[in-house]
Amino acid sequence: MAAIYDWFMRDAEQACLAGWRAELLADLRGEVLDVGAGTGANLAHYPADVRVVLAEPDPHMRGKLATRPEVVASRFTVIDAPIERLPFADARFDAVVCTLVLCSVEDPARALAEIRRVLRPDGQLVFLEHVAAHDHGRRAWQGRIEPFWRRIAGNCHLTRETGETLRAAGFVVDERRESMRKAVPWVRPSIRGVARRA
Ligand SMILES: C[S@@+](CC[C@H](N)C(=O)[O-])C[C@H]1O[C@@H](n2cnc3c(N)ncnc32)[C@H](O)[C@@H]1O
Repeated sequence: MAAIYDWFMRDAEQACLAGWRAELLADLRGEVLDVGAGTGANLAHYPADVRVVLAEPDPHMRGKLATRPEVVASRFTVIDAPIERLPFADARFDAVVCTLVLCSVEDPARALAEIRRVLRPDGQLVFLEHVAAHDHGRRAWQGRIEPFWRRIAGNCHLTRETGETLRAAGFVVDERRESMRKAVPWVRPSIRGVARRA
């Protein structure tokens, strides 16, 4: 995944993702945790005065992340940690950023409980995720592809109802749904926005 990720995502980044990332991250302040930071697609979009911890459990992804020029330049700290076990005290962060990650964790509810724990009570979870299609035909098609896709794409699920999972985890969600243009069609349905502790 790490070897091809940036190439695989390039068209979608140019068509929509980079703009969405920029919008979502523009108003962040203080101390931020980026979970499943991958190869660092969010790095260029963080405001200059935030301090960011980049948590990434995959050694290959983390290797790429650690050599990014922005990271070498210091206000970013890279750590090896999965979302399910974040090595931080309760209420430590002003914001948690989670982009294109909840599709591939084993247990999204558990991941969100841990994110909620490390967020300040007035903090925000900024999210961007691909999700199950609303259209029944497309949803059925995602379901048929999913077993194969999970095997080749790092356990990435196609039919998750992540908006519902966020609400069930105790967040109030301000969400926008839009097609991820130029991505492969089965990951296009997406949601993004901000979730706050209820
Ligand atoms: C599709 S990539 C997204 C990377 C980046 N967040 C982005 O927006 O481009 C998914 C990332 O989630 C990470 N990941 C998968 N399971 C995870 C877990 N349980 N905890 C934290 N990160 C995880 C993967 O290693 C990978 O880097």
